[in-house]
Amino acid sequence: MTRITDGRAANYRIEGDLMGRFDGRSAIVTGGALGIGGGCARRFAADGAGVLIVDVNEAAGVNTVNEIRASGGKAEFMAGNVADESVAEEMVETAVSTFGRLDLLVQNAYAGAGNAGSAVEVESKNWHAGMDLLVGALYLGAKFAVPAMEESGADPHYEQVEWTGAGRRHGDPPARNVGRIVNMSSVHGLHQAPRSLIYNAGKAAVIGLTKQMAIDFGPLGITVNAIAPGHIVTERGNANWNEVGDDAGFRLFELHYPVRRTGEPEDIANAVGFLCSNEASFITGQVLAVDGGMTVQLQENLVMDSKDYIVANPDLKTHFDSSRGSSRF
Ligand SMILES: NC(=O)c1ccc[n+]([C@@H]2O[C@H](COP(=O)([O-])OP(=O)(O)OC[C@H]3O[C@@H](n4cnc5c(N)ncnc54)[C@H](O)[C@@H]3O)[C@@H](O)[C@H]2O)c1
Repeated sequence: MTRITDGRAANYRIEGDLMGRFDGRSAIVTGGALGIGGGCARRFAADGAGVLIVDVNEAAGVNTVNEIRASGGKAEFMAGNVADESVAEEMVETAVSTFGRLDLLVQNAYAGAGNAGSAVEVESKNWHAGMDLLVGALYLGAKFAVPAMEESGADPHYEQVEWTGAGRRHGDPPARNVGRIVNMSSVHGLHQAPRSLIYNAGKAAVIGLTKQMAIDFGPLGITVNAIAPGHIVTERGNANWNEVGDDAGFRLFELHYPVRRTGEPEDIANAVGFLCSNEASFITGQVLAVDGGMTVQLQENLVMDSKDYIVANPDLKTHFDSSRGSSRF
């Protein structure tokens, strides 16, 4: 076994990182049947973790589990709506009984049909259901997962660094690498879009909830971070774009990303993998935009470029036309 022991914080087994940085650990991915969650589940399994996928879509969830197993990974599926407290409790019990412990929790599930609208337009029952899933489910997940992570203890492959230096000579070193929670926010949690009260307010609340949990659970050795994805083309998103059949529109959409492309589930899974790794043990309470630079771009340049593109493509369908939905002018 080769170890880096140069006196700094890095202290890990090289073969553990290269061959399976999550070997011996267990993860829950909510909404892991498809899309971003599916990408995270595959990432964790490829890096050695046992993965419990919790999703309302049983057929897709079983399919993803079978794919992971066929490539040599460890995975289980549990059907359930994660906004339901009994499901949140059961998923933690299932992960612990299946894999023997719980280390990583990715809170990603969401289904947003019928949630568009301003405060005047949204129905109260949709507001409550939306908040229950966008925000409430994340509270419930942490409520049951954190005690299970504490009980499981630190990553079994992690070896505590020697605790020396000013102010550190007395007492035990703080807990480290006990658990990781990653909450899925969105660029919609950072900037607002028209008539998206439920989704945008919910995703902004995910950021506040993440910071609160980071403070509450940091002393336990559990970090809590949020990811704000830009547009990620998932199985479902791809089907929607194909249905619209608006290639020039999709090209415009991609052009407004500084990296000139939209994202893929793997882009988010890679960021989640990093935040869940031991290398990220000093990062908590953060929101990481994984958006190809979209949210750092000045809007007025973007609008001028878009104008040129629209003028050059006169048949382009745009969202400025209220009949197409998301904006109302
Ligand atoms: N795709 C994007 O462009 C994008 C951008 C920013 C943020 N996000 C966020 O990323 C997350 C995943 O999005 P996605 O695009 O991969 O979605 P998706 O629809 O492809 O997958 C979501 C999964 O969640 C499951 N799910 C829905 N409601 C559930 C519930 N109540 N309990 C358990 N499972 C449930 C679905 O069955 C599905 O498998 C969401 O939180 C979404 O808001 C997505």
